[in-house]
Amino acid sequence: MPLPYSDIVMDHFRNPRNVGRIDNPDAKAIEGSPACGDMVAVYLKVDPDSHRITEVSFESYGCASNIATASIITEMAKGKTLEEAKALTWKQISKMLGGLPAVKVHCSVLAIDSLRAAVENYEERHGLVKERKPTTVEVVRRRLKRVMNPMVGLDLVRTRLVRDITVADGRVQVALSLCSDHQFAVNIREEIMEKIEPLWDVHEVTVQFDERALSELPVVQ
Ligand code: FES
Repeated sequence: MPLPYSDIVMDHFRNPRNVGRIDNPDAKAIEGSPACGDMVAVYLKVDPDSHRITEVSFESYGCASNIATASIITEMAKGKTLEEAKALTWKQISKMLGGLPAVKVHCSVLAIDSLRAAVENYEERHGLVKERKPTTVEVVRRRLKRVMNPMVGLDLVRTRLVRDITVADGRVQVALSLCSDHQFAVNIREEIMEKIEPLWDVHEVTVQFDERALSELPVVQ
C-alpha cells in the first residue's frame, strides 16, 4: 500500500527545487542516515557580511520523504541568516509539508541535519564557531560516524573500518582497515578530510590505509 503522502510532499518529490551542486560552494555537508544508509548533500553560498544564505542546493540519495524535505528546506533557508537556518526544526518543516508518515521521520531529520551540518561547516571554515572545544579522539570518532562507507551504506565506525585515531598538537591521524587501491579509498579519504579539517584547532589530517586482512586488525568502536 502506498504511504499517505500529502499533495505538498508529492509536489516537492516530483518537482524538487534547488537540486544539484553549486560551483565553488562556501560550505557543504554530506550526511548519512544510520537508519537506512541513504545520504543527502547540501551546498551553500553565504554573504560574508550579513551571513545570509544567498544560494542553497541539495543532492539526495534518499526516498520521496527525504527529497521533499530537502527541497522545502532549501526554499526556507534561502535568504535566512546562518542562525535562522540552524534554528529550523523538523516540526516546522513537517507542518509546511502537510505532515509526514511516522515511519518517514528519520528521512526528513536527515535532510535538516544536512542543512545544519552545512551551516556548521561554513562557521568552522570562517572562524565563526562560538564554543571552541578542543578536538579529542572522541570528537574525531563522532565525525567519522557521519562518513559513510559506500560499500554497505553505513558509517565508517559502525562498519569497523576505523582501526585507530590519534590527536596530538593539532595533528589528526586516522588509520583505516582498507587497502589504498580500493575503489572507494579516494572518496572515503576526501570525506574524512572534509569532516575533520574544518575543526578550529586542527592543522593537519592524515589518513592511513592498511593492507592487512580485516580479521587481523583492531578497530575503533
Ligand atoms: Fe532513507 Fe527515507 S528511507 S531517506
